[in-house]
Amino acid sequence: MLSSLATVCTAMLLNRLFNPKSRARLDAEAERLRNRFGIARKVPFSAMEIQVAESVCVDAAQLEVTFESIGGQSSLIGQLREAVLLPLLRPDLLTHSKLLQPTRGLLLHGPPGTGKTLLAKAACTECALRFLAVKGPELLDPYVGQSEANVRSLFEAARAAAPSLVFFDEIDALAPRRGHAADGGGVMDRVVAQLCAELDGAVGSGDDGVADATGAPTRPIVFVLGATNRADLLDPALLRPGRFDQLVFIPPCGSRTQHAAVLRALTRRLPLGPDVRLDELASRLPPVLTGADLYALCADALGAATRELLDAEPTP
Ligand SMILES: Nc1ncnc2c1ncn2[C@@H]1O[C@H](COP(=O)(O)OP(=O)(O)OP(=O)(O)O)[C@@H](O)[C@H]1O
Ligand SMILES: [Mg+2]
Repeated sequence: MLSSLATVCTAMLLNRLFNPKSRARLDAEAERLRNRFGIARKVPFSAMEIQVAESVCVDAAQLEVTFESIGGQSSLIGQLREAVLLPLLRPDLLTHSKLLQPTRGLLLHGPPGTGKTLLAKAACTECALRFLAVKGPELLDPYVGQSEANVRSLFEAARAAAPSLVFFDEIDALAPRRGHAADGGGVMDRVVAQLCAELDGAVGSGDDGVADATGAPTRPIVFVLGATNRADLLDPALLRPGRFDQLVFIPPCGSRTQHAAVLRALTRRLPLGPDVRLDELASRLPPVLTGADLYALCADALGAATRELLDAEPTP
């Protein structure tokens, strides 16, 4: 039974690879993916990489989030900019040293609504990277071995599309502490191991054939960002230097200046009434609020203003 199943699978795979019609379709799909993400190099994509990349690639132009959209986080923005941009702008500083290596991954952790997802999107837009965003357990698959294969394909696609940013939102759902998941078959443990291997760069050649000015081969630049509310649930192996090198805690806004900065960022495209004083409003708010709380406040104010406008209109 098993051997006949294996024969059918091999036949399907060979058919897909060598049948000129499916080969042409695969090439056309790869071309479409390259065009969609502006990849100039003729990098080949496998069927699985196309499938995974299609589901997780986000058009950076559609994100409409920049560092300007974020208030009260200037030092964090500086840290993110430096970590992501340094390898892009000065690869020469990093290619000739084994000790000085670019930051591979950065984990944003903190309470809900503090702006972690927003920061990841802004980093991608600002640094002009291709964005592959995975939310929680999106890569998990009930078929044996498929979840790890999805993680592998994701990174292969990210390397092909480099410079790119892979963002794992709610990463605790994908990489929990090993030995504790109640999945029976150890799927989660294998996913974590695969993720560690990918972050190490241990899998694949790590060389895309592109050379720097001195002729030395450069590694494709794939930056990995993770976000979670529960860093304590993650497998500790992921958090060691060389994988998620930097752990950044994002607290709620705890000062009036920060509140005012977030309010300014949130209302920067709205026409405010002449009597609106954001600094004064910030001084009347509770001392600790998240960006999401301030967003809700602005949304309520906008709703009230719209109602006032409608009430003032003469009834037809
Ligand atoms: N620093 C900030 N400046 C401006 N807006 C912010 C800021 N932080 C949060 N917001 C607002 O709050 C909303 C929620 O933020 P976001 O989704 O990034 O939170 P999060 O930290 O990822 O939350 P969770 O942990 O629940 O996923 C954003 O869409 C944005 O409108
Ligand atoms: Mg989030």
